[in-house]
Amino acid sequence: MKIAPSILSADFAILGEEVRAVTEAGADWIHVDVMDGHYVPNITIGPDVVKALRPHSDLPFDVHLMINPAQPYLQAFADAGADYITVHAEADVHLHRSLQMIRGMGKKAGVSLNPATDIDSLDYVLDEIDLILVMSVNPGFGGQKFINSQLDKIKRLRQMIGDRPIDIEVDGGVNVDTIKAVKDAGANICVAGSATFKGGDYAGNIKAMKEAAG
Ligand code: DX5
Ligand code: ZN
Repeated sequence: MKIAPSILSADFAILGEEVRAVTEAGADWIHVDVMDGHYVPNITIGPDVVKALRPHSDLPFDVHLMINPAQPYLQAFADAGADYITVHAEADVHLHRSLQMIRGMGKKAGVSLNPATDIDSLDYVLDEIDLILVMSVNPGFGGQKFINSQLDKIKRLRQMIGDRPIDIEVDGGVNVDTIKAVKDAGANICVAGSATFKGGDYAGNIKAMKEAAG
C-alpha cells in the first residue's frame, strides 16, 4: 500500500519543510489538495505554491483539483510540476476532453468520484485514465470520518478496471483503523492527511499505516 500524505494537514507557514519531512519519513507520493471555494466550500492553494514546493521533493506530486471548471487551469498545474492531475467527474462539462488534455501535457490523468457518484460515469473513459480517486469523505476538509459505503465502490471499480494499468487511490478518513478494509477492497494508494501529520512523528505514522494495511 502506497501512502500519499495530504499537505492540507501540514503547517502552511512552513510548507516546503513539511513536504521535505514527509518525503524523508517514507511517503510515496505528495497529495496536493487544490480547492476553489466554489466546487467545494474551502479555498487552499494554486499552481504557484505547487511550483514553489516542487524543489522540496523528488516524489510524484499528486494534484487533486477540487475546482470547477478545471480545464482552464490544467496547463498551469502541469507547468508547476504536477505528475498526476486529477479532476472530479462532475467538474467540467467534458470529462473526456479534460483527460485528453492532461495526457497531452505528458501527465498522468486521474478522475475523482464523490461519495454519491456512481462508477458508471467512468464507463466510456476507462482507457483515458491512469488513476481513479475514490472520495471516502465529502471533499473540502481534512479530518472527516471515513464513509463505509465507499468500500463497495472500490470493489466494483477493481472489477471494472480488469487488467488495465489504473491505480485506485482512496481519499478521506484513512488511518490505522480504516486502511486494512481499504486495501482488502482493492485500493493500492491511500491519501492520509490528519493520520500522517498528527502528533509530529510522520515516519511512525506512515509506518503504522503500512503495517495496519498488511
Ligand atoms: C478532502 C481532501 C483530502 C483530505 C484528507 O477534501 O481531498 O485529501 O486532505 O484528509 P484526511 O486524511 O484527514 O481525511
Ligand atoms: Zn485530496
